[in-house]
Amino acid sequence: MDKSEALEAGTQSTNVVKPCDGALDNPACFAQSAAVRLAALGAVSAWIGSFSRSGPHRLFVATEEERLLGFAGSQQYRSHPAFRKTIETSIYVDPEALGHGVGSALYENLFKEISGEGLHRAVVGIALPNEASVRLHRKVGFTDVGTFAEYAIKNGCYVSSVWMQRDLTPI
Ligand SMILES: CC(C)(COP(=O)(O)OP(=O)(O)OC[C@H]1O[C@@H](n2cnc3c(N)ncnc32)[C@H](O)[C@@H]1OP(=O)(O)O)[C@@H](O)C(=O)NCCC(=O)NCCS
Repeated sequence: MDKSEALEAGTQSTNVVKPCDGALDNPACFAQSAAVRLAALGAVSAWIGSFSRSGPHRLFVATEEERLLGFAGSQQYRSHPAFRKTIETSIYVDPEALGHGVGSALYENLFKEISGEGLHRAVVGIALPNEASVRLHRKVGFTDVGTFAEYAIKNGCYVSSVWMQRDLTPI
C-alpha cells in the first residue's frame, strides 16, 4: 500500500487507526507530514526502519480524511535478548488534533494489535514537564517508575524524564 492508498483507506471513518504501511514504504512522505516534525530525513528513515508490518515492533497512524492526526509505535527497548519481552512506546498527536481522544485511540489500537506477541512490559520515558503525556499514559494503564533527573540535554538545557511501565500480560 502506498501513501495515497493508505490515506484513502483512512477516509472510511473519523480517527481511523491503521498500520503505517505508507510510511514503511516511503519515509520521505511521512517525514513531510504534519504528524512527524523530525528535521532530518535520515533520522526519520532510521526511525521508521525500526518498525515492522507484523510482530511486536509496530507503527500506526490516525487519520481523518486525508489528514494525518498522529502516530503511536512500539520499538525494541534494548537489543540484548534479556529485554525481548519489553517494548518502548512513543506517541505523537498533531497540535490541531489534541484533546479529542486521538492519543487514547492510538494506544488502544496499538496494545490490541501487539497483544498476541507474548510481550511482558511496555516502558515509556517522558521528558518533563509534560502533564498531558503523563496523564494519557496513566489513563491507558501505565504506572510511574521514577524520574531520571537531568539525564539528557535538550536545546542546551538538562532535562529530566519520568519513566512509566505497563503490564502487557494477557488478562
Ligand atoms: C500526549 C498526547 C499524545 C495526548 O494526545 P491527545 O490525543 O491529546 O490525548 P487524548 O485526547 O486521547 O487524551 C487522553 C488523556 O490524556 C490527558 N490529557 C490530554 N491532554 C491533556 C492536557 N492538555 N492536560 C492534561 N491532561 C491531558 C487526559 O487524562 C486525557 O484523558 P481524559 O480526556 O479522559 O481526561 C499529546 O498531547 C501529544 O502528542 N503531545 C506532544 C508529543 C508528546 O508529548 N508525546 C509523548 C511523549 S512521551
